[in-house]
Amino acid sequence: MHHVVIAGAGVIGLTIAHQLLLQKSEIQKVTIIAKNFPYDPPTCEYTSPWAGAHFRPFPHKPESWKSDAREANYTRITQEFFEKFASLNPDSTIRFCKGTDWLEAPSKEYMELGSGYNTESLKDFKILEELPDGVKFGAEYSTYCLNAPEYLKFLQNAIKQLCKLQNIQLHFVKLTLPSLKYIKELYRDVSLIFNATAHGLQYNGGYDPACYKIRGQTISLNITEPTPYDHKTITHQSKDGDWTFVIRRSPTHYILGGTKQPNDNYPLPRKSDTQRILSSAAKIFPDLNTSDIICINVGFRPARKGGSRVDKSLHEGLSVIHAYGVGGSGFEVSVGVARHALALAELERPESKF
Ligand SMILES: Cc1cc2nc3c(=O)[nH]c(=O)nc-3n(C[C@H](O)[C@H](O)[C@H](O)COP(=O)(O)OP(=O)(O)OC[C@H]3O[C@@H](n4cnc5c(N)ncnc54)[C@H](O)[C@@H]3O)c2cc1C
Ligand SMILES: *[C@@H]1O[C@H](CO)[C@@H](O)[C@H](O)[C@H]1NC(C)=O
Ligand SMILES: *[C@@H]1O[C@H](CO)[C@@H](O)[C@H](O)[C@H]1NC(C)=O
Ligand SMILES: *[C@@H]1O[C@H](CO)[C@@H](O)[C@H](O)[C@H]1NC(C)=O
Ligand SMILES: *[C@@H]1O[C@H](CO)[C@@H](O)[C@H](O)[C@H]1NC(C)=O
Repeated sequence: MHHVVIAGAGVIGLTIAHQLLLQKSEIQKVTIIAKNFPYDPPTCEYTSPWAGAHFRPFPHKPESWKSDAREANYTRITQEFFEKFASLNPDSTIRFCKGTDWLEAPSKEYMELGSGYNTESLKDFKILEELPDGVKFGAEYSTYCLNAPEYLKFLQNAIKQLCKLQNIQLHFVKLTLPSLKYIKELYRDVSLIFNATAHGLQYNGGYDPACYKIRGQTISLNITEPTPYDHKTITHQSKDGDWTFVIRRSPTHYILGGTKQPNDNYPLPRKSDTQRILSSAAKIFPDLNTSDIICINVGFRPARKGGSRVDKSLHEGLSVIHAYGVGGSGFEVSVGVARHALALAELERPESKF
């Protein structure tokens, strides 16, 4: 393999590049093309910097069993990689901590501790006996939180370093692609393309009708005094279906979320959502100081009916590997998706490092 082009510089595109460079291969040139990169000002078209982000598992649902099982595998591969990687790279911002779920109206799959949500599949999994008012089911497990915008910058820098070490040419190209075909016109020597554009390219016929957005509004809090949420991330779902969660980004920055609104494309903060989140937080996290709001965030999770697509196709003799539609769990699945994408590309060699 000589020249690999990755379209997209979200957590998926960058993780594909990073994992590719961590394994031994015969690549000479890597080009990452994207409209948005980690150091650019935030825009709601670029989802990754808006993520919490933590790992929150859920039991497989009967209606989406196969894709849930596949995605759960991606998350476990990612967690295993992060365990070693985080301890060697504290500047990655990945921090292991305790995860807690509190559900007011748990589904049967939670109550029965279905596949993907039990001691067999989660580290330090435990059912909680003591529960807050209204909560019918609680569980706790080992998880991690990361600072999404900082982690993306970290990945971009790690990619630069790995290329330098291995003498691989690297180009970050800021460009809005009209199509994937255009890449072949730009680079005659391209040998492989990764399509990691999340919910992009629709306007040129390359539209996947199964893709849709799930709006997420969150609140960034400045908290300078110590909090009980420094080493735990808690997710609560009310019986009305509303989600409330807290994720530590840095010692003084906490993300309080958040909405999950399918097919809601409103790009600005909505007052009613902010009020709902704050009033839920006052009840669920009474010891969280919400008086200093830094900003209100809006992002769009790139979801896909039927689950994410990690797949290969051939166009005029050129391999295109697709990795998109990861919805609300792009960080959690990132390393697993990247490894699957690389396996499809047949770049992986038996002596690879990971
Ligand atoms: C509020 C909120 C909370 C979240 N919390 C979590 C969490 O706790 N854990 C978790 O794992 N995930 C979480 N997510 C989900 C996560 O953010 C996404 O799954 C992830 O960011 C998707 O990554 P991506 O790389 O597929 O897409 P993106 O980050 O959107 O990246 C797409 C890339 O493709 C480029 N692109 C698109 N079209 C074109 C084109 N035509 N030409 C050139 N470039 C193009 C863009 O510029 C960008 O670089 C959350 C999301 C939100 C909104
Ligand atoms: C998930 O991983 C397990 C164990 O590695 C494997 O047996 C199973 O086939 C995988 N499932 C899917 C859907 O990929
Ligand atoms: C590339 O991925 C996008 C989704 O991110 C999809 O809409 C598009 O169809 C894909 N391109 C091709 C050529 O399949
Ligand atoms: C957070 O609060 C501290 C103390 O009031 C202040 O010095 C700091 O500038 C604030 N940070 C942000 C990002 O608002
Ligand atoms: C909450 O934070 C503000 C500053 O942002 C501070 O003035 C106030 O005392 C804090 N409240 C508590 C209960 O710690």
